[in-house]
Amino acid sequence: MAQKADTTITKEQDVERLRKTAGLDDARLATQAMAICIVSMASSARQFARVATRTTTRSFAAVPRQAFRQQGRRFYSSEPEKKSSSSLLYLGAAAAAGGLGIWYFTSGASASTKEFVPTQADYQKVYNDIAERLEVDDYDDGSYGPVLVRLAWHASGTYDKETGTGGSNGATMRFAPESAHGANAGLIAARDFLEPIKANSQPIAKYPWISYSDLWILGGVCAIQEMHGPIIPYRPGRRDGDAAACTPDGRLPDASKGARHLRDIFYRMGFNDQEIVALSGGHAIGRCHRDRSGYDGPWTFSPTMLTNDFYKLLLEEKWQVKKWDGPKQFEDKTTKSLMMLPTDMVLIQDKAFKPWVEKYAADNELFFRDFSNVVLRLFELGVPFAEGTENNRWTFKPTHS
Ligand code: HEM
Repeated sequence: MAQKADTTITKEQDVERLRKTAGLDDARLATQAMAICIVSMASSARQFARVATRTTTRSFAAVPRQAFRQQGRRFYSSEPEKKSSSSLLYLGAAAAAGGLGIWYFTSGASASTKEFVPTQADYQKVYNDIAERLEVDDYDDGSYGPVLVRLAWHASGTYDKETGTGGSNGATMRFAPESAHGANAGLIAARDFLEPIKANSQPIAKYPWISYSDLWILGGVCAIQEMHGPIIPYRPGRRDGDAAACTPDGRLPDASKGARHLRDIFYRMGFNDQEIVALSGGHAIGRCHRDRSGYDGPWTFSPTMLTNDFYKLLLEEKWQVKKWDGPKQFEDKTTKSLMMLPTDMVLIQDKAFKPWVEKYAADNELFFRDFSNVVLRLFELGVPFAEGTENNRWTFKPTHS
């Protein structure tokens, strides 16, 4: 599989870029210490048309779409945003956790120090900027949302509870060898999508204070919410690591394997059977790509809308092995336009997993509640947050009504 060369942005490159955009030449730089402290613990009808376009060779058009679609789209209604009187206290805690970017510019003898302490409102601005760029006509099913969710999950899913290594702290997928791990094929699209949010070439970078690791997780949170999924509470505090912190290959699940493998992988992260099934609902969005994983096709007819359709389809459709020259995957008998991975099928073959598939298929609210809880935990794996911040997570306002 041909992969695009990876983009690796080091802290040194960050400094260099900033030096240039700030117009500082080397001599001035030498005398004016510019200390950069990037502390960083650091839809819709349209999508049906898109899926139909992507599956034109088969009989999608003949299938009554309503058979697969939810009757009346449920929009998750979040609790009203709490105007927390403890926000100042939280800021202090977040600063201690390193979730804040603080900039110092000292200029010669008259040292003027400019300190920038980002607040929830600043993170909401980043969220809004990501949301604004998510939908594009010429990418996949019209949204970068699914690949952003996959990036956030793969950044987090390397966690090993025994050794405390891996997880969303570090954003080590910026570096080889992790960027080249087979499981991460194609995620360059998500990393490139987010890059300008942090380090664009405006007179000065727009949000240089956010760590890559916080940004990638915020991208996942934003994508889930913007695709009409549940609210995912968030807290900053991830610190970017370097190549030395890359995790070994093989920590993410292999789609060709069985129940034993799924449990080995997810138990290692600290999840149980119910949580494995809830997390797998992420496959309601997005698709497989021949040139990335080797698999092909979407799981549902609404790949840019998060619903419990993944579970419904698993139970209601008849799935047969696809006859093709690719890896073993399943296709729905009715339209042959949807797919399931062998590991997806395990969820209805295993007697401990299946009851959860049934529960989530029957109750989208239950799915949303459990999905939000488990994704929140997934996205925080391996992050040494400051004590006390676990009760002060932020929720961001979706941009849709
Ligand atoms: C249970 C074990 C899992 C396996 C074996 C697995 C495997 C895969 C594979 C093979 C792909 C296709 C990649 C491509 O070709 O582009 C994929 C895509 C995806 N996965 Fe998973 N995955 C698993 C769990 C999860 C979890 C827990 C989530 C999120 C909570 C998730 C979210 C996604 C999303 C959103 C995509 C679509 C990406 C896109 O459209 O570009 N997956 N997964």
